[in-house]
Amino acid sequence: MNKPSIAIIGPGRAGSALARALRTSGYVIAAVNGRNPDNARQLAKEVNARPTATAAGALELAELTILAVPDDVIAPLASEIAQSMCASDGKSAVHLSGAQDRAPLASLRAAGVRTGVFHPLQTFRKEPEAVNNIPGSAIGIDADSPLHDLLTRAATDIGGEPFDLSGVDRVRYHAAAVLVANYTVTLLAEAEALAQSAGIGKKRAHDGLLRLLTGTVNNLRATTPKEALTGPAARGDDSTIQRHLDALASDPTLQQVYALLAQRSRRLKEAI
Ligand SMILES: NC(=O)c1ccc[n+]([C@@H]2O[C@H](COP(=O)([O-])OP(=O)(O)OC[C@H]3O[C@@H](n4cnc5c(N)ncnc54)[C@H](OP(=O)(O)O)[C@@H]3O)[C@@H](O)[C@H]2O)c1
Repeated sequence: MNKPSIAIIGPGRAGSALARALRTSGYVIAAVNGRNPDNARQLAKEVNARPTATAAGALELAELTILAVPDDVIAPLASEIAQSMCASDGKSAVHLSGAQDRAPLASLRAAGVRTGVFHPLQTFRKEPEAVNNIPGSAIGIDADSPLHDLLTRAATDIGGEPFDLSGVDRVRYHAAAVLVANYTVTLLAEAEALAQSAGIGKKRAHDGLLRLLTGTVNNLRATTPKEALTGPAARGDDSTIQRHLDALASDPTLQQVYALLAQRSRRLKEAI
């Protein structure tokens, strides 16, 4: 199977990481388009692609177009492209959202473009190093053949582990991803602020708690969440939990978050 030429629409976090990974894996990035022309030009230069003035112009230049734009922008952008593109023969388009099925691309499908979903179950920051997160990542795919086969091959080529997303409840699936990828970051920020309010210096709080989180991830790599759980909820130290709750009384929201997580932690430990 030949590697299709690629257009990236949206040179943001996910779009840039995928453009870099695909190019390194031997794919030709034919075009880049985005809202801010400077961002599109910059990524285009890096991956030796052509920056285009319009999104439809990018789709015209490639066999596979990746709509790497915010979730709410996918459907309006797809219909804008469908209205202004010239030819759809042999063209495919995917979005990267884990929370949506192929529906936001319906207007492109109606115009004769094959459509699908390519969802890296991974988190990307803006910096170029974000591409290093891709190897070993699960990549969810929802498409009909032959696009399904092509996306599976692309996922494998960039070092990912493709899996089938058809039949999966996208909203529940994506909520799971957000819980673990995003809200751990929020929890770390809350924990750092709490440690600082207790009298620990900013850098020590950050470095120390980050190392602690690394230890937790190491434990989770080796065993199940139930076995990896340590701390007062796992030990049954209820008086320690009560003292924590008392200390958090000045921040009722954080106190509530703590209480709910303690409750779920006890339930996890008691699960058969
Ligand atoms: N980041 C992740 O960790 C991650 C992981 C998996 C999946 N995804 C999915 O990838 C997609 C993009 O997310 P992201 O995190 O990469 O977002 P992002 O960093 O905010 O980048 C979004 C890109 O879309 C462009 N854009 C925004 N509004 C636009 C519009 N109205 N018309 C055209 N282009 C527009 C932005 O243009 P400018 O260059 O002008 O800002 C930017 O280049 C989403 O569907 C998301 O669910 C993201």
